[in-house]
Amino acid sequence: MRFRALVTATAALLSSTTTAIELNIQSDDSIKNAASEIAHDMMTWYIGNQTGQTPGILVPVDVYYWWLAGAMMGTLIDYWYYTGDDSYNDIVTEAILWQASDTRDFMPPNQTKTEGNDDQAFWGFTAMTAAEYKFPNPPSDQPQWLELAQGTWNSQQLRWDTGYCGGGLRWQIFPWNTGYDYKNTPSNAGFINLGARLYAYTDNETYAEWTEKVWDWLVETDLITDETNPPAWRILDGSWIRDNCTITSPIQWSYNIGMLLNAAAVMWNATGDAKWEERVNGIWSATGPFFHDQIMFEAACEKRGNCNTDQLSFKAYLSRFLAASTKWMPQLYDSVSPYLAASAQAAASQCTGTIGGLVGSACGFEWSEAPTWDGTYGFGQQMDALEVVLSQLIQGADHPVTAKKGGISKGDPSAGTGGDGTVSSVPMREITTGDKAGAGVLTAAVLVAWVGGAWWMVS
Ligand SMILES: *[C@@H]1O[C@H](CO)[C@@H](O)[C@H](O)[C@H]1NC(C)=O
Ligand SMILES: *[C@@H]1O[C@H](CO)[C@@H](O)[C@H](O)[C@H]1NC(C)=O
Ligand SMILES: *[C@@H]1O[C@H](CO)[C@@H](O)[C@H](O)[C@H]1NC(C)=O
Ligand SMILES: *[C@@H]1O[C@H](CO)[C@@H](O)[C@H](O)[C@H]1NC(C)=O
Ligand SMILES: *[C@@H]1O[C@H](CO)[C@@H](O)[C@H](O)[C@H]1NC(C)=O
Repeated sequence: MRFRALVTATAALLSSTTTAIELNIQSDDSIKNAASEIAHDMMTWYIGNQTGQTPGILVPVDVYYWWLAGAMMGTLIDYWYYTGDDSYNDIVTEAILWQASDTRDFMPPNQTKTEGNDDQAFWGFTAMTAAEYKFPNPPSDQPQWLELAQGTWNSQQLRWDTGYCGGGLRWQIFPWNTGYDYKNTPSNAGFINLGARLYAYTDNETYAEWTEKVWDWLVETDLITDETNPPAWRILDGSWIRDNCTITSPIQWSYNIGMLLNAAAVMWNATGDAKWEERVNGIWSATGPFFHDQIMFEAACEKRGNCNTDQLSFKAYLSRFLAASTKWMPQLYDSVSPYLAASAQAAASQCTGTIGGLVGSACGFEWSEAPTWDGTYGFGQQMDALEVVLSQLIQGADHPVTAKKGGISKGDPSAGTGGDGTVSSVPMREITTGDKAGAGVLTAAVLVAWVGGAWWMVS
């Protein structure tokens, strides 16, 4: 073991001087080449396309949970959208369709031990992005991209819970999972984000009404603070139903900013209402803690080096959503682009690691710390670097389409509303005692799995 470690360290030293990801953000070719290399390395965590493996699952699945695979498929759609390289498109289509589930809302029975509303949302985003970017449609006898985004949204709307806290989505979908008693911002922000984008795509007012309603609820419960409940524009992680959501977890995560800012930018575009532009600008004005010298920084955990596997991927979504927002709200571009550029450059300069089969190209996480590899590596680091590097191509990228303006994805407004008795279609308060009893054994196992993994407790 010792010998091996020494060999690896030596190899790292040698290779750090010989290979690295080159990135010149003035050159589209350079950006595309860098993205291609980083994407290739990210795919070493994916074997779902091999014979006998499950499409849409990362390995190991108890480290890289199901939601991360959904996020990755979205990043691969971004990769194709920004670079035109379709190398991974078949993998993406196969994975989405495999995980879409019979209810067409990403509720596969295998995932009941881990799937929360926010997890489901990340697969929903991927389907929505596919519709917005005209990702090649699946065969017509398969669920369609827009339909899957609608299905996800519908199933979540049915879970809106007025039993506590005057509304809100709970973190968890299933009562047996830890966090079922917690109403977290990522779940509600995911629902808002999907709703805003569905509204822009379909013009169906129901999505806009709910987007308004959920936003207002987040402000009422102080999970979003604005000028009505200052200090303005903090986005906190969530609150517990036992106190009727009066006690709030103070932690702030970068991906909540990404999801909400993007939703507000889409709503500004779709409604023209200045209120949404103010919300975008407000959120952006409060992102100071998430950048060091304009370089992205995961404030809640990076300083102490204790970001968990999920959190290590959040910079990918802040990058993704900031870049995408400049398409919906072009006046945002001048303010965010220096930050994305500095972050892309810093991320790429960290992609020099040699470890775990990656030679001189494994990416680190602490981008603002030093312009050399920080010695960490993983799926999250790789996806973060990929999204932020891709963001450098946003100005030349196509505008997202809508049903009226260029869209080619077919929807089904009733997807995900069930009728087939599956649990995904059952509003939470109607889960039967039978369901709960049956889940007893599962709960014990899940509790064990979650000790040390209760990420919302990290302070
Ligand atoms: C799976 O995808 C990778 C790219 O990530 C590719 O190199 C490999 O050939 C694919 N394997 C199969 C069996 O299709
Ligand atoms: C569920 O798990 C089984 C066994 O591993 C696998 O064969 C199947 O493809 C999985 N289904 C999904 C949707 O992941
Ligand atoms: C719980 O919180 C909601 C939303 O803030 C509020 O409308 C409701 O009156 C509260 N209920 C109780 C029992 O305090
Ligand atoms: C609009 O969306 C809602 C919510 O999914 C749905 O119930 C309704 O049928 C949709 N309306 C139209 C005209 O598609
Ligand atoms: C709204 O977004 C679309 C799609 O990106 C874009 O083409 C359009 O210019 C935007 N509208 C405004 C007023 O910026």
